[in-house]
Amino acid sequence: MSRFGIFHFMESDSLFSILESANEKPAAFSVYTAKELWTDEHTSKQMLAYHLDGDIDVSSRRTGFIDDSVRWMTQCFDLSSNSRIIDFGCGPGLYTSRFANLGAVVHGVDFSARSIRYAREFADRNDLDIVYTEADYLEYTPEAEFDLITMIMCDYCALSPEQRSGLLINYRELLSDGGRIVLDVHSLSAFAGKKEEVFYEKNQLNGFWSAEPYYGFVSSHKYDEEKVSLDKYTIIERRRRREVYNWFQYFTPESLAQEARAAGLEVEAVYADVAGNPYDSGATEFAVVMTKR
Ligand SMILES: C[S@@+](CC[C@H](N)C(=O)[O-])C[C@H]1O[C@@H](n2cnc3c(N)ncnc32)[C@H](O)[C@@H]1O
Repeated sequence: MSRFGIFHFMESDSLFSILESANEKPAAFSVYTAKELWTDEHTSKQMLAYHLDGDIDVSSRRTGFIDDSVRWMTQCFDLSSNSRIIDFGCGPGLYTSRFANLGAVVHGVDFSARSIRYAREFADRNDLDIVYTEADYLEYTPEAEFDLITMIMCDYCALSPEQRSGLLINYRELLSDGGRIVLDVHSLSAFAGKKEEVFYEKNQLNGFWSAEPYYGFVSSHKYDEEKVSLDKYTIIERRRRREVYNWFQYFTPESLAQEARAAGLEVEAVYADVAGNPYDSGATEFAVVMTKR
């Protein structure tokens, strides 16, 4: 340090460039880091704990909601022991386990080894016949047909337009005649409520990112034209720096219907959520049921 309290040029330069990089606004969906978030040894442990806490809506929704959701889908789509169901991004199997209780043929896909391990052990303990595949659902196509495809907790919103298009085309191929896709998304009301801000915190989120001490920087950006937001996390440890990009695409029922049509699907019904509650245009999320066109 000089006598004026100014850091040596190289030191200040590197801190400056780290902060520049932390604050940089990239092109929408230009980086995909979902795997870093969900499969890292440390963060996947935190995520699993959130999934399994039935009293909070983090990673998975509360137990009561999941019960209502599976009850509603069972009635609405007349699910029975003959139904074939696949859940993409199944996590620890909270929905798949309930579907398997109907005696249905159930398949869950997730790239979190920790969640899939938990799901398999739960199925074994409870004598549930469920196929679990540890895979990236953007690259995985099972050789089977399904009467119901689910993707729950707004996972669809984390994907780029190209990823979403590929996914819906894949889903269409997997659908039986008369089969349904159920997914939920963030709405434009959520986009309106989203703020652009920057902040940092030591051991941000109570050690969520690492067991080692760290500084967590968050810079949130909005993309008005695309109706996209980004929460960019820069995690700085003593010997490691990571960036995790959490993208959110926000939809109207019309914009989602347009994506469905482009993939040979149509939106059959719009609801408030995947428990079949009535659609509310002011709410921050909504859910749709899609069928083949
Ligand atoms: C928000 S959680 C929702 C879990 C589950 N649908 C629920 O509601 O209980 C998203 C899940 O999707 C998984 N996931 C995210 N991106 C994925 C990808 N590209 N391939 C496979 N799984 C993915 C994560 O590991 C995580 O388990």
